Amino acid sequence: MIEQISPAKGLHGVITVPGDKSISHRYAMLTSIAEGESQIYNYSTGADCQSTLSCMRSLGIEHEFRETDGRTVLVVHGKGMNGLSAPSGQLDAGNSGSTIRMLSGILAAQPFTTTIAGDSSLAKRPMRRIMEPLAQMGAHIDAAEGQFPPLTIRGSALRGIDYSLPVASAQVKSCVLLAGLYAEGETIVRESVITRDHTEIALRELGAELILEPRLAKLRGGARLTGKALVVPGDLSSAAFFLIAALTVPASDVIVTNVGLNPTRTALLDLLRGMGASIKLLSIEQVNGEIIGNLQVKTSRIKGGVVEGALTAAVIDEIPILAVLGALSQEGLVVRDAAELRVKETDRIEAIAYNLRRMGAAVTTTENSLEIPGRQRLHAAEIDSFGDHRIAMAFAIAALSADGACAIDQAEAASVSFPEFYATLGHIVQ
Ligand code: S3P
Repeated sequence: MIEQISPAKGLHGVITVPGDKSISHRYAMLTSIAEGESQIYNYSTGADCQSTLSCMRSLGIEHEFRETDGRTVLVVHGKGMNGLSAPSGQLDAGNSGSTIRMLSGILAAQPFTTTIAGDSSLAKRPMRRIMEPLAQMGAHIDAAEGQFPPLTIRGSALRGIDYSLPVASAQVKSCVLLAGLYAEGETIVRESVITRDHTEIALRELGAELILEPRLAKLRGGARLTGKALVVPGDLSSAAFFLIAALTVPASDVIVTNVGLNPTRTALLDLLRGMGASIKLLSIEQVNGEIIGNLQVKTSRIKGGVVEGALTAAVIDEIPILAVLGALSQEGLVVRDAAELRVKETDRIEAIAYNLRRMGAAVTTTENSLEIPGRQRLHAAEIDSFGDHRIAMAFAIAALSADGACAIDQAEAASVSFPEFYATLGHIVQ
């Protein structure tokens, strides 16, 4: 699908974004192995989170969507820690790295063998990062060329480990913690860079006992989880496209409601404010251990800056849209320590550079960095999403500031996390 995006004169209105993708995956997996029914409100409409649900269904967990008081609620019929059953065929994680990496932690402990595969993008993503700790716990996993999906996981008895993450990855941390739920003894995960802590919060919310210290999570195998009502906050990483759209399009004033503001995710807001962004927090509440708020953003003069070290890890999903902001900023943006971008849904360093150049903008890349000068004029161009949701959405926002209409090729990729993206944009464009 090709989506035409025309330059915008201003953005105005109040919008919502889909439920947080990271939290939705975790709630789907954890409520499946919890006892009894759970009601999940605002579950992500994105294809990735539907992949997790369909994997759980293949493992014998029933769910349905119900309408109550005009709200859609996902009802998951959890069967307890030992309630999963052998699937009749391969599990399909689709485009979702979170699904395959986190679910593998649960599958490694089941009394059956599972093969889990995905699409052509997922088939190129590195899995050694989960295979190594799981092997230390006693798991048996075969992978294509020793490291790529499909993974064939022969479930076995696991033992707890004390594991220091070699890459800053919440998916790997979560995988080890989920395996740890089933392991004998204690599992400890240590991280040198803080990553999103939605798994730790959700585990506690469902009744598991965890010891949490700065950069350390510890749990004992044999926990029992209990189903309950859960609310998924809006996805800040999806809101990011509209925050930066409103910052860059003149005369804009946009409110995004019910956005997740977990402190392990909000480095983006601090970064933007530090560069001169007018982003106001209008309200704040806590639900299921997660913080939710309404944000108001207005057109601002953005200085630009440097993203490196732990900050790069903290805003890793937002780099495509930050790169667009960089080109439109006063002094440009430098992104360092970003090798992880090479192994996302596509090689994002390459995809960002390709599309900025298509729009006539300058950009320099290395193996792990991007340098984008500021005050660049963006020209009308044909954009290629490379099938990556965040590239499609980032350049749809870039198109709002171009000197003519842009065509986004493979624009439908947005539906991996945000099927309503183009409709939401249409709602606020003047
Ligand atoms: C995620 C963690 C991050 C992020 C991804 C979602 C999660 O990946 O990029 O979109 O839900 O835990 P890594 O764990 O590979 O850093």
